[in-house]
Amino acid sequence: MDTQLLEKTARELVAAGKGILAADESNGTMSNRLEAVGVSASPDTRNAYRANLFSTNGYEKYISGVILFDETIRQKMPDGRNIPDALTSLGVYPGIKVDTGAKDLANHAGEKITEGLDGLRDRCEEYFSMGARFAKWRAVIEIGDGKPSTACISTNAHALARYASICQEQGLVPIIEPEVIMAGDHDAQTCYDITSSILSATFEECRIQGVHIPGALLKPNMIIAGTSCSEQITRSEVAEMTVDCLTKNVPHNLPGIVFLSGGQSDEDATAHLNLMNEMDIIHPWQLSYSFGRALLANALKTWATGDNEGSQSVFLHRSRMNSLARTGDWSSELENK
Ligand code: 13P
Repeated sequence: MDTQLLEKTARELVAAGKGILAADESNGTMSNRLEAVGVSASPDTRNAYRANLFSTNGYEKYISGVILFDETIRQKMPDGRNIPDALTSLGVYPGIKVDTGAKDLANHAGEKITEGLDGLRDRCEEYFSMGARFAKWRAVIEIGDGKPSTACISTNAHALARYASICQEQGLVPIIEPEVIMAGDHDAQTCYDITSSILSATFEECRIQGVHIPGALLKPNMIIAGTSCSEQITRSEVAEMTVDCLTKNVPHNLPGIVFLSGGQSDEDATAHLNLMNEMDIIHPWQLSYSFGRALLANALKTWATGDNEGSQSVFLHRSRMNSLARTGDWSSELENK
């Protein structure tokens, strides 16, 4: 394992003022999102939408890496360059989603196990040769009706650690993403408790399997009450509970935590990150972003109207807002400037 390369990549992915763009929607998810804004989905439209984002002037100031899907890493920019080469030329790390999706967990109705370990070593080797330097694997943990089971927590934690170990062997920094889903009527304390369980199980598996923690990143959910819970907590409470949960369950030699947005509004996701970075306490890790929807939802809507430049400026604006949240310098007044 090339620990120096892994540590350097991980550090640069969470460099000051920068975060990650998650543009790795599977073909199915991306097609649904395109169709929802009236665009017919095809490899060409998926390529055109994403290549337009990656052509945005100056986004590399705020974006350290872009997570791609298998189809996209093989596609080209309008000028004919391969997409990973175009990103690398701007100093933006190409990343790759390497899981093959969350499938039904045997004998546990309504629960999921993320698959993709078979053949993963060979796929990582190919992606590295194409320019990828980091990877993502997302586990899905739902709350409600007795969920999550111990089986769901332990199988997903085990798979995340095996994935991380294989990626590191092949030179890719693993983003370890155990996502506790926001849907449900559970309160914030339940989200805190379940998030603690999956984080501690995941890092225990990482310890057993020899994952090199300084060469990995964590992509967690924030601690939020379920979307249909009647007792929502304030933005400050989200920030405090999230930092508390992470401090107790995440090794302090991990270089960075890059949050997912998970369906929060653009402004909530940014405000929560800003509040965490504004706290007086010094966190042991960089606290950054690896947002999908909170960076792209409005850029996609604008692109669908045929306004390529408008879409780029919406993406650039959201990237800048989140960059400011890295240092606690964001405020809602800046949103309309
Ligand atoms: P969201 O920010 O839209 O949750 O997406 C991040 C991601 O990569 C989920 O796997």
